Amino acid sequence: MKRAIFFPAIIFFSLLNASAQTSSMPQLVKRGHYTQLLVNGKPYLIFGGELGNSSASSNAYMRPIWPKLKEMNLNTVIAPVYWELMEPAEGEFDFSLVDSLIENARLNNMKLVLLWFGSWKNSMSCYAPAWVKTNIERCPRVLTKDGVSEEILTPFNKNNLEADKKAFVKLMQHIKQVDDKQNTVIAIQVENEIGMLGSARSYDEAANAAFDKPVPGQLINYLQKNKDSLTPEIDSIWKENGFRTSGNWENIFGKNLETEEIFTAWNYARYVNEITTAGKSVYDLPMYVNTALNRPGWKPGQYPSGGPLPHLRDIWKAGAPEIDMLAPDIYFPDFQHWCDLYTRFSDPLFIPEIRFEKEDAAKAFFAFGHYNCLSFSPFSIESTEHPEEEPIAKAYHILRQISPLITKYQPEGKVSGFLLSKDSLSQSITVGDYQLTVKHDFTLPWSSGSREGEWPLTGCTIIAVASNEFYVAGTGVVVSFKSTIHGKRAGILSVDDGSFEDGKWIAGRRMNGDQDNQGRYVRIPINDYDIQRVKLYQY
Ligand code: DGJ
Repeated sequence: MKRAIFFPAIIFFSLLNASAQTSSMPQLVKRGHYTQLLVNGKPYLIFGGELGNSSASSNAYMRPIWPKLKEMNLNTVIAPVYWELMEPAEGEFDFSLVDSLIENARLNNMKLVLLWFGSWKNSMSCYAPAWVKTNIERCPRVLTKDGVSEEILTPFNKNNLEADKKAFVKLMQHIKQVDDKQNTVIAIQVENEIGMLGSARSYDEAANAAFDKPVPGQLINYLQKNKDSLTPEIDSIWKENGFRTSGNWENIFGKNLETEEIFTAWNYARYVNEITTAGKSVYDLPMYVNTALNRPGWKPGQYPSGGPLPHLRDIWKAGAPEIDMLAPDIYFPDFQHWCDLYTRFSDPLFIPEIRFEKEDAAKAFFAFGHYNCLSFSPFSIESTEHPEEEPIAKAYHILRQISPLITKYQPEGKVSGFLLSKDSLSQSITVGDYQLTVKHDFTLPWSSGSREGEWPLTGCTIIAVASNEFYVAGTGVVVSFKSTIHGKRAGILSVDDGSFEDGKWIAGRRMNGDQDNQGRYVRIPINDYDIQRVKLYQY
């Protein structure tokens, strides 16, 4: 029965990743503008958490963490692999930490995304092995404009690239060897928060020479081919310089810091693309790069520059075509703003890191409902002392149940997400013959806390499974319905709370009295986490 449902859908899927070794390999597939991550042959959403940087460097330290992660209802752990510990001496590899992650993930029925802490980690090269760090002749560093040598391997050096690439290939060979049957590892992050610091570009000798050379044809071709769909940022820079197609970096993009950053982005992207291509050629998992976002108003060189930032999307797409996704690490408050930037041009939203805080629960309901979101993952997830009380744990409990509905109905445009706050009390959308209005729970005068100054973020995912039937899943929301047909009114036939067990809806309470205010709305009060099924009619 399952096969009969799945195959008609997959005919419309075009493989992003045509060289996947077997059909059950984790892979990204595209259905129209919608991207899905397939794991063991089925669409998969990552309800994840990223480990703090040092936790996965000790199996003993990790031991009490696994039960915590399970208690928080994670289906995926995002965990580092440290180059220095994996290749302590050149050519000698130790995969014991990787093996332990895989073994424990399996024991806990979880998947893994592995982070390659290789040449760069938050701009710096702190996880490069000692034999790399101490041989500056062989593995040179970035030089700032003032001639300061930073602890950042320069992307303009072949030795740096080759050393990193060899190690990464070994890692991918090892993962293939131990995991190609079970596919516990479902994606790889290549490097971590790449970005130039100190200057917008490196001033080492090789960098200076490259800066004076013509802009590579590969980038020019990309710009020409995608002229009508470039990001507004790159389009306006190129336009200001007359859309020139030959010349050096300053001829084409102008003599300013922005050009230096574009040059940096291109060279990081080329370096990463080479590592990624080599890794994928041995084991073809989805691969992405993550981003330290730029603080608004700061200039290139002041923030980690040249990473896969929204304004550099085109440069990264042109320079690193083997990278499947550019992913934001979201630590700034304006969640929606950053998600919007990363989903321009129908890119999927993959959040490998977000600040771990109470309001993540509401953001997760919103992200999975509103965007083509494939991953949500608070950082340093193990840092809580009370895993069972964490709002994200409660949200994941709900989201895991409705995950098959999201992945089934989202490509048809039948899933929406809402994020409510004191500044955004109410939002409406139209679905078929109904207008849905979603309000913050505190808009009800009798809601506990409605008179408080602080209104926590609340949110929900709503799925239309039939013309008159919706599932509302979330926390702190009130949903009302109007008919869009002239002269008709919408009424609630029934509201049930409940849960999904093995994909089957198990109804709990019938809520047609006080709980839905005698048929006026669906409500999930603040601090409750619930799924409710509502059936409507028109009269
Ligand atoms: C983002 C980085 O990617 C993480 O490894 C970690 O350093 C966090 N920042 C800390 O907030």
